[in-house]
Amino acid sequence: MLHQTEPCDVLEAMARRHSVREFRPDPVPDAMLLALLEAAHQAPSANNHQPWEFVLVRRPETKAALAAATSGRNAQVVQTAGASVVCLASLRQADALADRIEAQVKAGQAPPEREAMVKRLREDQLHRQMLVLPNTYTAVGFMLLAATKFGLATLWMTGFDGEKVKEAVGVPADDYLFAGVVAVGHAAEGWTQPPRNRRPLEEIYYFEQFGRREP
Ligand SMILES: Cc1cc2nc3c(=O)[nH]c(=O)nc-3n(C[C@H](O)[C@H](O)[C@H](O)COP(=O)(O)O)c2cc1C
Repeated sequence: MLHQTEPCDVLEAMARRHSVREFRPDPVPDAMLLALLEAAHQAPSANNHQPWEFVLVRRPETKAALAAATSGRNAQVVQTAGASVVCLASLRQADALADRIEAQVKAGQAPPEREAMVKRLREDQLHRQMLVLPNTYTAVGFMLLAATKFGLATLWMTGFDGEKVKEAVGVPADDYLFAGVVAVGHAAEGWTQPPRNRRPLEEIYYFEQFGRREP
């Protein structure tokens, strides 16, 4: 099926979104990129800690710096797509959440047992990462759907050297995790979507108990 560009509703956007790997180099207006970020920012997050942050890349020299942090088709995509969004998961928001809970405990608005949660949020590196990264991924998913609604093509890529990407766009390395680069733009003329390739639906759900297939 040819890549479609007319507006569509959310279920249609989910069905229609697919990874585009050939772009034409038309720019994407900043207002539209900001609308995508506004959509991403509607995402839910644990304790509403909102760890996502983004760097919008539209200039050729920054695109080239991103391309140098990957290879092959990913490099070609970031060079040709109108824009790319570097997606970042902020560990600072894990600290901010710890501060918030600690203040609630001190004010008697949260039970003292919550101190253990604060300690874990500050000290357990794996816990911190497993908090901010998946929550950022949710926001990126929202962004992809919003782009589809606007008729834009996207490709979410994590096949980069995340540390190099952070360096290329000046991100303080210790405070942020790399959550991918989303190329945003217009599909190349004649780009066709390969058929959807998914495990059978029946394979991914159960009734009441894991393994039970009958309703
Ligand atoms: C977290 C994540 C990372 C991905 N990284 C890459 C990537 O580096 N390069 C690429 O070409 N596609 C990448 N993809 C796209 C997947 O290959 C694609 O989503 C999958 O094959 C399903 O196809 P669809 O998006 O068209 O439904 C990534 C997708 C996700 C969600």
